[in-house]
Amino acid sequence: MDMMELVKTRRSVRTFDGRPLRKEDESKLRDYIQAIENPYGIPVRFLLLDAEEHGLSSPVIVGERCYVTAKVDKVPHSEEAYGYSFEKLVLYAWSLGIGTTWIGGTMKRSQFERAADVQDREWMFCVSPLGYPAEKMSVREGFMRKTVKADERKSAEQLFFDRDFSTPLVPEDEKLRDALEMVRWAPSATNSQPWRIVRAGGAFHFYLAHTKGYTDKAGWDMQKIDMGIALCHFMDAMGGALSLSDPGIPAGEGTEYIATVAL
Ligand SMILES: Cc1cc2nc3c(=O)[nH]c(=O)nc-3n(C[C@H](O)[C@H](O)[C@H](O)COP(=O)(O)O)c2cc1C
Repeated sequence: MDMMELVKTRRSVRTFDGRPLRKEDESKLRDYIQAIENPYGIPVRFLLLDAEEHGLSSPVIVGERCYVTAKVDKVPHSEEAYGYSFEKLVLYAWSLGIGTTWIGGTMKRSQFERAADVQDREWMFCVSPLGYPAEKMSVREGFMRKTVKADERKSAEQLFFDRDFSTPLVPEDEKLRDALEMVRWAPSATNSQPWRIVRAGGAFHFYLAHTKGYTDKAGWDMQKIDMGIALCHFMDAMGGALSLSDPGIPAGEGTEYIATVAL
């Protein structure tokens, strides 16, 4: 499967068929995890955790036998780096037929932190079950998808702009059109799709349009993880180099500059 197909077919899987990961799939995942990098150069350390052994569960997940989580040092941009690296794993898992769901809220965080032996200097933002999708979704899963309109996304005109935030970006070639489509279909917490992109001076500037009430008490921002996911999809399609230098384009209130990708 190519990246576009992976992105378009992936969905959060919350109902699994109860089988453990096949040995060959688990070893492919472990190998892949070792090689995951992100353009921030911030190490993201993954762990596979047996659900039964560690007593792990989530009220929205059924039939899972295993979880993946990751830890990162408490450094600036750790959320974006985490989103980028974890999403790489999510897409690779899907290429093997393994379902995932990003989980940052609906879990007993302390249980997972204990199982992952999280230190004071570290953050463990999210977890995901890993397993094979059941043939039928649980009623709760169907309900959840409806509640957050999980099969829908904002239109390109609402997300992507040229030079300023009032001119929609019209991609002139297929490569850019595909890259933006891959960003559009990225997963985000409560499907809020907070990413905005402004193309200016030959570069693509990524902004976060904050949804109120998302800053965690512990001092990290779930929506910056969404931004890392968007960067992952975009850079997979377009390549480019990441830099952090705010171009000073006037953005609306609550909209924060995150990063620039120069091709
Ligand atoms: C950072 C992040 C955190 C999330 N946290 C949760 C969560 O706690 N519980 C949950 O059921 N889904 C969670 N999701 C999954 C989103 O609800 C889901 O990606 C979105 O509704 C789009 O649906 P899709 O993944 O099927 O395309 C999270 C997604 C992201 C990116």
